[in-house]
Amino acid sequence: MGLGLDLILLGPPGAGKGTQAKKLVEKYGIPQVSTGDILRDAVKNNTALGIEAKAHMNRGALVPDEVVIGIVKERLKRGDCSKGYVLDGFPRTIAQADALFSYLNECGCPINGVIDIRVSKGYLVKRLSGRRVCRSCGFGYHIEFSPSKGNGRCDNCGGELFQRDDDREEVVTKRLDTYEAQTAPLIDYYEKSGLLKTVNGVGDVEVIFNDICKIVDGR
Ligand code: AP5
Repeated sequence: MGLGLDLILLGPPGAGKGTQAKKLVEKYGIPQVSTGDILRDAVKNNTALGIEAKAHMNRGALVPDEVVIGIVKERLKRGDCSKGYVLDGFPRTIAQADALFSYLNECGCPINGVIDIRVSKGYLVKRLSGRRVCRSCGFGYHIEFSPSKGNGRCDNCGGELFQRDDDREEVVTKRLDTYEAQTAPLIDYYEKSGLLKTVNGVGDVEVIFNDICKIVDGR
C-alpha cells in the first residue's frame, strides 16, 4: 500500500493518461495501475473476468463497479505499491471513488494527488482512432503524432503494433459519452476534496509531463 506518491490521473479517453503514467513510472519508480490494462490482459487470456469485461468494453461501456473495485484493492496490496502508485483509469464513477476513499482511509494511506489532464473533445477522436499499441510490451504510438520508425513494429521490442477493438470510431463516440455521463462528475468530486490539480493535455508530451512533474514535486 502506498505511503508516498499515491496519485490518480483523471481525464477522458485519449487524454494521455497512459502516456503520462508510463513516464511517471520511469521518473519516480512507482507502478502504473491501469484498470484498462488489467482488463485487456484478462480478455487476452480469456479468463472469467475477461469474458465478462469484453462485452462491456467493446460497446464503450464501463465494467461493473464491484468488479473493478475488487481488482484495484487486490492490486494495491502488492508489494510494488509500497512507495506509491499512479492510478490510470480508476476511479471512473462516484461509487468507485467512494470505495477507494474508504479503503485507503482504513489503510491509513489516503490519495495525495489527483491530476486531471484536460483535452477538448475535438482532439480525442483523432488521438484514439490513430492509436496503435505494441502487442508485446504495450508501448503506445500514434500513426501521425508519434509513429513508430519500423514498419508496423515497435521501436522498443520489435513487437507487432495493433489497433485496440475499442478504438474503432463508433466505439470511441460511445466511450466519450460514457465519460461525460459517469466519469466527468469526478472532477467536481476531487475539486471539493481539495486534491484536484489540472494540466493542459494538448501539446508536446514532454511539456505536459513537465507540468505534471511540477505538481508532483510541489505536493
Ligand atoms: P482504458 O484503457 O482506461 O481506456 P481510456 O480511459 O478510455 O483511456 P485510453 O487508454 O483510451 O486513453 P489514455 O488517456 O490512456 O490516452 P493514451 O496515453 O493512450 O479503459 C478501456 C475500457 O476498459 C473502458 O472503456 C471500460 O470499458 C474498461 N474500464 C477501464 N477502467 C475501468 C473502470 N475503472 N471502471 C469500469 N470500466 C473500466 O493516448 C491516446 C493516444 O494519443 C495515443 O496514440 C498517444 O500516442 C496519443 N497522445 C498522447 N498524448 C498526446 C499528445 N500530447 N499529443 C498528441 N498525441 C498524444
